[in-house]
Amino acid sequence: MKNFAIIGFGGLGKTHFLNLLKIEKERKDIRLSAICNADIESITKSIKINLGNVNLDDIDFSRYNLYTDYKEMVAKEDLDFVFIALPTYLHCEAAVYCLEHGVNVYTEKPMAITLTQCEQMMDAAKKSGKKLMVGQCLRFTGEYELLKELTENGKYGKPIKAEFYRRSALPTWSFDNWLLKDDKSGSCIVDMHVHDVDQMVWLFGAPDTCMTMSTHQMVDYESTYSLYKCGETVVMILTDWGIHSSFPFRYGYSVTFEDAYVVSRDGKITVYTNDGAFEPEINGGDCYHKEVNEFIEAVVDGKPFKTADISSVYETMKVVFKEKEISKKK
Ligand SMILES: NC(=O)c1ccc[n+]([C@@H]2O[C@H](COP(=O)([O-])OP(=O)(O)OC[C@H]3O[C@@H](n4cnc5c(N)ncnc54)[C@H](O)[C@@H]3O)[C@@H](O)[C@H]2O)c1
Repeated sequence: MKNFAIIGFGGLGKTHFLNLLKIEKERKDIRLSAICNADIESITKSIKINLGNVNLDDIDFSRYNLYTDYKEMVAKEDLDFVFIALPTYLHCEAAVYCLEHGVNVYTEKPMAITLTQCEQMMDAAKKSGKKLMVGQCLRFTGEYELLKELTENGKYGKPIKAEFYRRSALPTWSFDNWLLKDDKSGSCIVDMHVHDVDQMVWLFGAPDTCMTMSTHQMVDYESTYSLYKCGETVVMILTDWGIHSSFPFRYGYSVTFEDAYVVSRDGKITVYTNDGAFEPEINGGDCYHKEVNEFIEAVVDGKPFKTADISSVYETMKVVFKEKEISKKK
């Protein structure tokens, strides 16, 4: 039996918790033994986040050892792996600590708030021989899995140009409002823009050229407009969380292949060809369930990371931090 824990039990920690309980039931060879959060009281509370409601009403938390200090938890529990869903500025210190103490680490995206921190995490994984994965969830999401398939199988020819966008009202719901503080979240450019940059790198490789501009009106880096060339593919990414509060979250892409134009708008996908338009079948399944499952299969069953290899996530972070430097407030 492999024991594991969750560190950081807010919106994403609780989302992972419910998926992990399902996987625990299916596999029967892993056991959630402990949960760590800044305060114990909020652990048992259901939560409403922008992804929906996380209902914990029927959960018996007496089965778990609860901690406020992950170092104490690592010392007292016999852990094989942890899921880190802390505010981003804490990913590096918690991941490095766990790796150095022989514990495999899954951490939420974005990997960390500086490139140096990303490198420290990779070094700690290498030195410890333990596994490190970053949950870039779009890689596990049906409409993006379709793009990966099409760029790899060449069904519609080469990708010529691509546009990705992600827009939201200002996120004012996080613990201690850490999300709006650049030194804690990296702001929109690191927190939200990273999703589509990761798609670009995953699909087309790291860009050869990049032009980027950010605005800094409501908070630092609330929006980023970027243009890239990845090999022969021209890519545009628009990310914005500086929108007025009544605006609903919106995301999508359009990719022009030689023989088709593939458009995704808030989960609805259409393929336009010269012979007509249709809605393709896409992989089902919850992206968060799929990503934590890939980590567990890597750690417990020794399977390779087929989707979220850490070196490709590092390439993503290199692009993001370069853009941050280029588009800083003058
Ligand atoms: N993949 C996605 O789609 C997605 C969506 C939202 C958030 N995230 C990422 O998940 C991470 C967590 O975000 P969230 O929205 O769950 O944040 P959150 O503010 O809801 O939760 C963070 C939790 O960490 C706890 N915490 C803070 N400091 C701590 C400490 N020192 N020790 C123990 N616990 C501590 C807080 O009590 C809180 O419950 C972030 O990196 C964020 O970018 C990813």
